[in-house]
Amino acid sequence: MNETRRAVLDALADGPVAGPALADEFGISRAAVWKHVEALRDAGFEVESASDGYALAGLPEYGGAAVEFGLDAPFNVEYHDAVASTNDRARELASEGASDTVVLADRQTGGRGRRGREWSSPSGGVWLSLVLRPDVPPARVPLVTLAAAVAVTDAARDAGVDAAIKWPNDCIVPRRDSERGGDKLAGVLTEMEGEASRVSWAVVGVGVNADVNPDKLAGDATSVRAEAGGVDRRAFVQRFLERFDELRDDPDAILGAWRERAATLGQRVRVDTADGDVVGDAVDVTEHGALVVETDSGREVVHAGDCQHLRPVDGA
Ligand code: BTN
Repeated sequence: MNETRRAVLDALADGPVAGPALADEFGISRAAVWKHVEALRDAGFEVESASDGYALAGLPEYGGAAVEFGLDAPFNVEYHDAVASTNDRARELASEGASDTVVLADRQTGGRGRRGREWSSPSGGVWLSLVLRPDVPPARVPLVTLAAAVAVTDAARDAGVDAAIKWPNDCIVPRRDSERGGDKLAGVLTEMEGEASRVSWAVVGVGVNADVNPDKLAGDATSVRAEAGGVDRRAFVQRFLERFDELRDDPDAILGAWRERAATLGQRVRVDTADGDVVGDAVDVTEHGALVVETDSGREVVHAGDCQHLRPVDGA
């Protein structure tokens, strides 16, 4: 949303305010005020017009303008009813120079997960990608992914779900009898471009099974709707973005919060890596997002793989 339209919207929220007063305040014509009001109505905002002026009477349930309104974090939101993959669209925007932009969709037709997997993305989910330009070397980008995992877990908890993080960056609802550690609620897929010393851009894709039926999803999945009843997707996305923004430049806070929310730490795990299985006790995560596993033959630091929770470590 452009700056003037956003300012007009804020004025309407504090309204009623007369058209001529808005025109004076923003140095635009009355016709331009009317155009902004009509565009806001088209975007789903309910704008009442009475003798004492215009006033905001209702918000759209979801969408870019709805998320930007009242958002306490510096992101522009581009919304699509349907898109192949928000990560693909975010990569395009990144290559055109965008920054602190969020691509948000109601549905994806070609959603992508980690390790080249498909990601089911029916209507009702929260499918989004952040375009970021962190001023860090590529080795520090995993911290951004960890921050996204913390932020999505906190948004899920606020929505009433008993969520935790499973290494590397899955948000799950822990279940005692599940080999995978629990049912998957959300996942994070980070992609980037840059040189050895500096990242040019990073795209952090986050998929949350929000207002969807888990039967429509692959594998052991759950959703916010299944765990907590309904979900306000606008509030969910705002909470996620605000929490991410709070954390993103604070490595100690990110690592501390990740460790506190991690269901994997303290578990006996089997990690399926490209070099074979690593079995042992998961004891920590590094600032590079790697899992530290205490095995029978010593400590191993695992950078990538699929993790199974075998049982809690004795005494944990
Ligand atoms: C995982 O495998 O756990 C990561 C899943 C990431 C899915 C999200 S949905 C929004 C964004 N767009 C994509 O195509 N993928 C990510």
